[in-house]
Amino acid sequence: MTNNDYKIKDIGLAELGRKQINMAEKEMPGLIATREKYGPQKPLKGARVSGSLHMTVQTAVLIETLVELGADVRWASCNIFSTQDEAAAAIAAEGIPVFAWKGETVDEYWWCTKQALTWSDGKGPHLIVDDGGDATLMMHRGYEAEDNPSILDEPTENKDLMAQNKILKDSQAEDPQFWHKAVAEWKGVSEETTTGVHRLYHWEKDGELLVPAINVNDSVTKSKFDNIYGCRESLVDAIKRGTDVMVAGKVAVVCGYGDVGKGSAEALANHKARVIVTESDPICALQALMEGYSVMTVEDALPYGDIYVTTTGNRDVITTDHMSKMKDQAIVCNIGHFDNEIQVDELNKMNNVEKVEIKPQVDKYEFPDGHSIYMLAEGRLVNLGLATGHPSFVMSNSFTNQTLAQIDLWENPKDIGVYRLPKVLDEEVARLHLDKLGAKLTKMTQEQAEYIGFPVDGPHKPDHYRY
Ligand code: NAI
Repeated sequence: MTNNDYKIKDIGLAELGRKQINMAEKEMPGLIATREKYGPQKPLKGARVSGSLHMTVQTAVLIETLVELGADVRWASCNIFSTQDEAAAAIAAEGIPVFAWKGETVDEYWWCTKQALTWSDGKGPHLIVDDGGDATLMMHRGYEAEDNPSILDEPTENKDLMAQNKILKDSQAEDPQFWHKAVAEWKGVSEETTTGVHRLYHWEKDGELLVPAINVNDSVTKSKFDNIYGCRESLVDAIKRGTDVMVAGKVAVVCGYGDVGKGSAEALANHKARVIVTESDPICALQALMEGYSVMTVEDALPYGDIYVTTTGNRDVITTDHMSKMKDQAIVCNIGHFDNEIQVDELNKMNNVEKVEIKPQVDKYEFPDGHSIYMLAEGRLVNLGLATGHPSFVMSNSFTNQTLAQIDLWENPKDIGVYRLPKVLDEEVARLHLDKLGAKLTKMTQEQAEYIGFPVDGPHKPDHYRY
């Protein structure tokens, strides 16, 4: 590693970043306890770890935890807008290679991902910490393209695939066997989010998965906290930083009522918006009704909606046709992982719609009939584009799971497949966060434990329990 093995916005921001990291650490008791417990043993010693996960202040605490546990870490962000430049600077100043800045182009994004996956001696990672699956996708496609280079020439309209293909071609020219050598040493990936987990199960089903993977998202202390309570705090933060709009009294349309949708709807309702939910799953639709929200289709909500938020992880949820029929001054944003939930690319191609930048990541689109809408963060994750993502405390839960998953992948070789962390570790992650909030846990008596059939020290629930 050389001292300039990084690419960031400005190393001069390091001190600012360090102060924020120090502040965040106090709110991340799980990660700090994990450092204290495992730091002396260095369980990740010898492991080359690549991260592709929003380069925020909270992620800096994760990175430094992995380093403290002995890992040799390289990092990129998993979204072009999500880096906090001061956090990236603080990490670079510690000599940890990081390739991330706020406002990357799509080409730069894939270049950064490749940098995070490549050590200076030409080696790849042993382990990946992924968020959304882009680093894992690059490993899989790079590997496949070495056997079948024509996949890089298949016609595509997908801007990410086009940019990735270019980087993969450059990589083949540099070292025709890089991805095969890298995959041979690759021991596993731990995946942070719902969308990345979908990709993993898809590869597993098709027999294409190349390594063992741990689904961190579906630890209870991840998806039932970060996805719900994290979005409950960071969604409205982003909408307000972007628009300063008064949420009270507005009609908010939340597309999708899974974990992210539940947190998003609650946040908007807490601000006294009237909330409409759209859902394709009858169970989630019924849950929304039980919370007092209306359930209808996007089409039926168009005459009412002032603020639209997509939370589905699905594509084309808000179309150009929808946007052309929205109320004047409607705000449109996405908090799901990828930007194809809203047809932004298609909107940009419409000749009769004029785009006016109000400020970075706030664009006004003027339609020929005279109505306008505001698009936030170009349809990408709004809470990481316009705000700074979730609060540290909730990310401590997610990242403690990530750290435990990395240790498990390194110490316990597994067959290829997608795994979850055992419930006893999930409970442990929660336990590590109770003190900070002044909670005191009830301990069951031996008789009580026997009566309900669970050990005194847990796990306290069967695996099928849904929380
Ligand atoms: P989930 O699977 O719990 O919820 C998604 C919901 O959308 C499901 O209930 C599904 O039935 C519904 N849905 C799918 N297609 C739909 C359609 N066409 N119309 C209406 N509803 C539809 O997933 P989760 O955990 O809520 O994650 C959603 C997305 O948010 C994923 O892309 C995930 O990666 C991302 N995410 C973003 C975070 C952030 O900080 N911005 C944090 C955590 C997750």
